[in-house]
Order: sequence, then C-alpha cells, then structure tokens
Amino acid sequence: MRVIGRDIRKIMVTGGAGFIGSNFIRHVHGRHPGVELLNFDKLTYAGNLENLEGIAGRYAFVQGDIRDMTAVAAALDGVDAIVNFAAETHVDRSIHDPGDFILTDVYGVFVLLEAMKARGSVKLLVHVSTDEVYGSIAAGRFHEESPLNPSSPYSASKAGGDRLAYSYCKTYGLPVVIARPANNYGPCQYPEKLIPFFVTRALQDLPLPLYGDGCNCRDWLHVEDTVRGILSLLEQGEPGQAYNLGAGQERSNLEVTRAILSLLGKPESLVRRVADRKGHDFRYALDFDKARSLGWEPQIDFDTGLRRTVEWYVRHERWWRRLIDRNEYLRPLQKNYE
Ligand code: NAD
Ligand code: DAU
Repeated sequence: MRVIGRDIRKIMVTGGAGFIGSNFIRHVHGRHPGVELLNFDKLTYAGNLENLEGIAGRYAFVQGDIRDMTAVAAALDGVDAIVNFAAETHVDRSIHDPGDFILTDVYGVFVLLEAMKARGSVKLLVHVSTDEVYGSIAAGRFHEESPLNPSSPYSASKAGGDRLAYSYCKTYGLPVVIARPANNYGPCQYPEKLIPFFVTRALQDLPLPLYGDGCNCRDWLHVEDTVRGILSLLEQGEPGQAYNLGAGQERSNLEVTRAILSLLGKPESLVRRVADRKGHDFRYALDFDKARSLGWEPQIDFDTGLRRTVEWYVRHERWWRRLIDRNEYLRPLQKNYE
C-alpha cells in the first residue's frame, strides 16, 4: 500500500474535474494504491467529469462549491490532506466579469481554511496559487520572496487567496503549503487557454487570434511535471512556505503558435493579429530552486510536451467538440476575437 508521506491516506481534491486537478487525480490514483481520493468540484463550465472516465475504486465525487461552508465541512470527514485546485482560472474572463473570481479565489479559500481550522485533524493543505501573483518581469526571475504585484482581476484574487492561506498558517498555525506553478499545458485543458484553443482552432482551419504583437512570453510547464511538484509539496513542503514550480522553457506566444501550426501542417496565414489583452503581462519567469531542493525537477521539455499535447487533441476530437459545441463556449470572450 503506497500512502503519501506524512501518512496521507485520504486527499480531498477541490477542482478535481478541471485540467490540473483531473491530471492530479489520475496520477495519484494510478501510483498510490493506498490513497483514497475525494473530488469536490462545483462543475462550472471548466469542470468536466469526462476527464476522469475510467477512474474507479478509492475515488468519490461530490458536486459542491468551496464557497459553501456546510458542504465543505461535511466533505472533510476523514480527510488527511486537501489540495485546492478549485478556482476561476481564465484571465480574459476575469477582465470581463471579475465577480466570480473574487468569490471563489478569495472567499472560497477563506471557507476552506475556516473549515480546516474547525475540523482540526487535516494534516496539510496544499493551496495552488500561480506565478501570476508576482506580475510581469522584464528580465531575470521571480523567487518566492519577490513582492506580489498582480495585474489582472484573476491574479489579484489569486494573490488574495495565496496570502490568506499564508495568514492562517502564521496566525492559527494551520499547516498550509503554497504552490505557484507556471503556465501549464497538456491533456484535458479547456480549449479557451492559448495552446488548446489554438490547436483546436487550427484543426478546424479557423483563425488564431494572437493578442498584440505576439511577443509576450510564458514559461511552459507540462501538467505531469506540475502534478509531481504538488506531490513533492504534499510529502515534504514546509508549512508556511511558498514554492515556485517553473519549467525554464520560455517561449513567446508567436513561437508557440508557429510550433503548433508546424506540428499540424497548417499555414501561418491562419494567424490573426487582434487587439491586445488589457493589462497584458509581458513575461513570467520563475526561480524554482526551492522546489528543486525537495528533489523535484521538471522533466518534460517543451518540444516533446507540445508534440504529445497536440497529438492528444488530435486523438480526442470528440472530447473537445463536445465542449465547443456547447452554447456557452467562449460566449463572454467573443469581443477578444473580433
Ligand atoms: P480549470 O479552470 O481547468 O479547473 C478549475 C476547476 O475548479 C473546475 O473543475 C471547476 O469546476 C472547479 N471550480 C471552480 N469554481 C469552483 C468552486 N467555487 N467550488 C468548487 N469547484 C470549483 O483550472 P486549472 O487550469 O486546472 O487550474 C487549477 C488551479 O491551478 C487553479 O487554482 C489555477 O489558478 C492554478 N494554476 C493554473 C495554471 C494553468 O496554467 N492552468 C497555472 C498556475 C496555477
Ligand atoms: O501563468 C499561470 C497562469 O497561466 C494561470 O494562473 C492561469 O490560470 C492560466 O490561464 C494561464 O494564464 P495566461 O493568461 O498566461 O494563459 P492564456 O492561455 O490565457 O494566455 C497565454 C498567452 O497567450 C497570454 O500572453 C495571452 C495570449 N493569448 C491567449 C489567448 C487565449 C493570445 O494571444 N490569444 C488568445 O486567444
């Protein structure tokens, strides 16, 4: 029986039907037969139980909202650790309609922390924050002590949740570790984020709306590396500490776009320059030596990871067609693409 360090036998995974959460559940379910998983997810537009098809035994799903104290408190029964992935996550949506971001990414974290404090028996919360809490950096890398300077309603609400989680450790002694991952990509990512959006658009020969001059830069971390990083934090992260999870694989958006087109054999004429995102962060880059000191290292280089990801979307057309055929798909975002 392979439990997880700190004798963790039951994990409540909030947001487990989303992109990173579902990859985390699959990974732990496959490799830690001594661990029981509880997926607590509201199933917003981004939650998709198809991401977890075939997972059975030692796994349960509860449809619930992290803003609902009664539901969260009940779900915590027997839970040793929580990994909080639940969030509103798309920057563009936060620019159009920030309300839900504040409610889930700040107030929802407060509810989780209060419920954990009241229960008293949860050994660890790994709260998943983001590298976007630091804001943009022109040169060099952010380390964990860099000041937080978020630019969008999304990243500002994530910074609120991040520091609230820290405050419950500092003030009440709650065992909380904070993860700050870079841009993730891989299977099961909702097709509104750059990589799955452009792959699925290119497959349909539709224009790819590139914001601004396409020179904005992101550090691309494969979701499988993120999942292993979060497991390292569950096992060895020091309460009260934040850990950057970077990849050291910086690419401009134009480079990513060209790589996708080349893998699919599609022409560059599909690229459409559109108005820039408001408040668009130019570059994210992390120093992740602190996570490395726990023995974690990102393993998947971007070219390999992107090829595998593109192949996944080619093979799983039914999965993404169902999402893009829904009425609500991209509805709040149309203006960005005109
Ligand atoms: P996602 O949008 O794919 O999934 C979010 C999940 O949370 C969905 O299943 C949704 O139904 C659920 N959810 C939303 N609000 C909820 C609520 N109030 N109660 C319960 N469940 C709720 O997100 P993702 O890309 O998998 O990101 C997971 C976490 O990682 C988020 O906290 C995000 O901020 C963080 N993060 C993401 C990235 C990235 O590149 N994707 C990078 C760094 C950090
Ligand atoms: O850095 C971590 C963050 O990465 C996470 O915290 C967020 O949850 C996640 O959504 C992601 O945020 P970004 O804004 O970096 O990702 P997105 O895929 O939305 O955009 C990546 C880059 O591509 C960004 O510079 C904007 C650009 N872009 C995006 C879209 C959707 C375009 O040029 N055109 C587009 O249509």
